[in-house]
Amino acid sequence: MATSLFRTKSVEQSVRETREPGHRLRRDLSALDLVVFGVGVIIGTGIFVLTGRVAREYAGPAVAISFAIAGLVCALAALCYAEFASTVPVAGSAYTFSYATLGELPAWIIGWDLILEMALGAAVVAVGWSGYFSSLLSTLGLDLPSTFAGEDARFNLPAVLIVALVTAVLVAGIKVSSRINGIMVLVKVAVVLLVIIAGAFSVKLANYTPFIPPAVPTEQVEGIRAPLLQLIFGITPVSFGWLGVFSAVAIVFFAFIGFDVVATTAEEAHRPQRDLPIGILGSLGVCTLLYVLVSLVVVGMQHYTDLSESAPLADAFRAVGQPFFAGLISIGAIFGLTTVVLILLLGQSRVFFAMSRDRLLPGWLSEVHPRFGTPARSTIFMGVIVALLAGFIPLSALAELVNIGTLFAFVLVSAGVIVLRRTRPDLPRSFRAPLVPLLPILSILACIFVMLNLPAETWIRFVAWMLLGAVIYAFYGRRHSRLARSNEPNGRSVI
Ligand code: ALA
Repeated sequence: MATSLFRTKSVEQSVRETREPGHRLRRDLSALDLVVFGVGVIIGTGIFVLTGRVAREYAGPAVAISFAIAGLVCALAALCYAEFASTVPVAGSAYTFSYATLGELPAWIIGWDLILEMALGAAVVAVGWSGYFSSLLSTLGLDLPSTFAGEDARFNLPAVLIVALVTAVLVAGIKVSSRINGIMVLVKVAVVLLVIIAGAFSVKLANYTPFIPPAVPTEQVEGIRAPLLQLIFGITPVSFGWLGVFSAVAIVFFAFIGFDVVATTAEEAHRPQRDLPIGILGSLGVCTLLYVLVSLVVVGMQHYTDLSESAPLADAFRAVGQPFFAGLISIGAIFGLTTVVLILLLGQSRVFFAMSRDRLLPGWLSEVHPRFGTPARSTIFMGVIVALLAGFIPLSALAELVNIGTLFAFVLVSAGVIVLRRTRPDLPRSFRAPLVPLLPILSILACIFVMLNLPAETWIRFVAWMLLGAVIYAFYGRRHSRLARSNEPNGRSVI
């Protein structure tokens, strides 16, 4: 039993299956496309929305330090992802890597967990998109009825429409998706640069003091809303100070989610071994730099206590008497958030595609569309689920669940790098993470530390979700698994 749960799928078998007729994706992406994909999915709600809330509630001007620390934690994981992606260039990212190293059950767990990152993440961002879109419409004098838009909407119509639109684009082809993405990313990056350059002229140095405001006890985060770490050690929940800066890291981590999604397109890259590490590390590097600069500028333009919670970047420009820039930023955010939804959904459909090809999910999900060369069924299936989530459930409270799910995937991928170096030292690795096993161990510890800074209630939801996944595996995946049924002698166990 234990052996079957930890049966691994050999790297060779994974690669061989990517060439099967009817399940083969089209290789259309270059290294630059991948960097653009990465930037497209990374820059979104995190910088356009969360910066203000986090500076006001947790870190003050030191939100820039929180962004830098979160970027560093991601860089450790990104180096591990880059090595994996260059060694196992197969769609499915962390799921596929885990199948090749830790075994079938951990792979299933991670696949199930990635739903939190990508499907739930796409739904959360679609709701954010709807907020910006509705506010732009009302600027133009068109107010949507409150039943269909806004915080208390019964059915969030714009969110559902944007998910439907990106699903259609994704079905139409990876190259179409990548071109549309490219244009929107240009707009988004231009807007971010505009914030940095135009905003720098309105910075008041006085707003930077104190840079790390002194810690204050806070009632907002009592009980299970408090970070697990503070509950475990019986610390009275505080905002600001260094503890506040670390709580902020756990929240702004959302802004970095996505660089790992680049690895899910492994089967669609021209030269995955070379291009994936460039895509992963390049996009993360660009975004970290932009985030630190944007957050420094925004907290310099307005005192952190005055920042707005829903549109901090745009409102900072309004506050310094430049409403024209504020309008441009809103348009940039709408474009920006569209690409995030697009690529998270792309990643999710690739992970489902890979899981279905392995028969841990029903096989019909991994049929490739004969004309478009895309996994149309898994894309439409996920599109419907994400649209329902975004349409009917108020999601802001669930954003932290996206973070914990992603961090957990990072932990498993980092562990997987150490395992694969031991079990398959012979595999060609066109990119090798430095200082293995020290670096992956640091990555694991850093991710766990950030996870512990998330609220206890997020942990409870996370554990409940994972238990549900374990039940589904027991009743479906374990029995239908292709690896279990195959007679190939590849079902080696690593334990
Ligand atoms: N990193 C993405 C965002 O901030 C998910 O929206």
